[in-house]
Amino acid sequence: MRIGLLGIGHLAGFLVQGAQGAGHEFVLSPRNAERADDLARRFGCQVADSNQAVVDACEMVLVCLPAAQGLEILRGLSFRPGQALCSAMAGVPVNALRAAVAPAEVTVAMMPGHANAYAAGLTLLHPPHPRWAAFFAACGPVHELVTPRDFETAAVFGAMSGASFAFMQRLIDWYQTEGLDPTTARRLVAETLRGNAEVLLLSTDPLETIAAGVATPGGITEQLLTDLAERDALLAWSHAMSRVLRRMAPTRADKNTL
Ligand SMILES: NC(=O)c1ccc[n+]([C@@H]2O[C@H](COP(=O)([O-])OP(=O)(O)OC[C@H]3O[C@@H](n4cnc5c(N)ncnc54)[C@H](OP(=O)(O)O)[C@@H]3O)[C@@H](O)[C@H]2O)c1
Repeated sequence: MRIGLLGIGHLAGFLVQGAQGAGHEFVLSPRNAERADDLARRFGCQVADSNQAVVDACEMVLVCLPAAQGLEILRGLSFRPGQALCSAMAGVPVNALRAAVAPAEVTVAMMPGHANAYAAGLTLLHPPHPRWAAFFAACGPVHELVTPRDFETAAVFGAMSGASFAFMQRLIDWYQTEGLDPTTARRLVAETLRGNAEVLLLSTDPLETIAAGVATPGGITEQLLTDLAERDALLAWSHAMSRVLRRMAPTRADKNTL
């Protein structure tokens, strides 16, 4: 597939890297010449003369523009029937995109970004789109969501994913403050979370059963959870994620009020 990229910043770089070896060609928007040259050199991408030249050269156009300006930039371009546009811009609704790029088809996506560069980042798509699903499959698992409501809800994971780095940093900092070397601290946190994520993916037991199996009554896990609960540390995630959902879907009622 030949994929046109509008916006060639962080996310575009991650996706181009993750898709290496899958047989795709990339045509890049030229705005930042240094960045375009770097991606072209490292990954064999072509660089177009303008955003419109990207659109003219490609049936499939991936939009990685800043969310605040993206719609305006797209309104200034001409699309043709049969083109398939996929927007990764957080919080830009599918209907607004359809109006901006008609008669092109529109799919919206959310992904973690950096994990996609290592083919380990999931991608959410709405509505389902077999060609975009085939493209993103090179960058990690793909979940196609049928309803806009499910996509809005699931897409909060973009923020959850980014925030998980701050969570990991907090844990790593604690170990380092107590004297562990940075490499051991980083590996300890990453390998713990990766191992437990594998449990969630591989075990069919309910999570309560899994959690009970690793927490001895009166033991250290129970103590840690009790201390976290006293500070509402876990419930605070629900509250913060609801605020992200309200930002991306202002009309949605909040079911997770504290
Ligand atoms: N980063 C992630 O991991 C991630 C994950 C999921 C979704 N997203 C979404 O992806 C989008 C891009 O995020 P990002 O982190 O990649 O941002 P970024 O690094 O700032 O990249 C945005 C790119 O768009 C370019 N741009 C701005 N105006 C343009 C125009 N008129 N024509 C062509 N290019 C233009 C910028 O060029 P200049 O640098 O020259 O301004 C920059 O290269 C955002 O909407 C975000 O919500 C990002």
